[in-house]
Amino acid sequence: MRAWSAVVACVVSISGCGGPSDGPTQSVCPPPSDSLLTYDNFGKAFMRKYCVQCHAATVSGQARNMAPAGSDFDTLEGIKARLPNIDAWAAAGPAFTNRLMPPKGEYAKPTDEERQKLGEWLACGAR
Ligand code: HEC
Repeated sequence: MRAWSAVVACVVSISGCGGPSDGPTQSVCPPPSDSLLTYDNFGKAFMRKYCVQCHAATVSGQARNMAPAGSDFDTLEGIKARLPNIDAWAAAGPAFTNRLMPPKGEYAKPTDEERQKLGEWLACGAR
């Protein structure tokens, strides 16, 4: 079942099937702790470093490098609006390590450890 949905995702995605990716990570939100990931201590910096160069409401035309219109992660609202997709394209968890984003090319890429944190943060509702 899972293999089948990965195949469907590959066919649908323009960027194709580069690696062991494209599915919901099934990350779980850990119990509250002092190291809880938040927008302020994690999400904002992650998006600024790796995503908003293309995915931002303030970026238009060619500068978006074809990032879809409305797919903007320069605000928490924009991130929440695409939460499951961000998980399936860029986060890592028990089920998948998704490396479709950032796209192939000379773009800064998060480590798998950072992708795992992204999965956790999203699983907690991107607070
Ligand atoms: C160099 C520009 C660029 C960067 C940087 C980039 N993306 Fe993308 N993104 C794209 C393009 C182009 C597409 C459309 C690709 C396709 O349809 O195959 C896309 C599509 C997506 C989609 C699917 C559409 C949607 O909004 O649901 C998601 C989710 C996404 N990107 C998340 C991210 C995340 C998270 C990061 C940072 C880790 C990121 N992207 C970094 C260019 C970029």
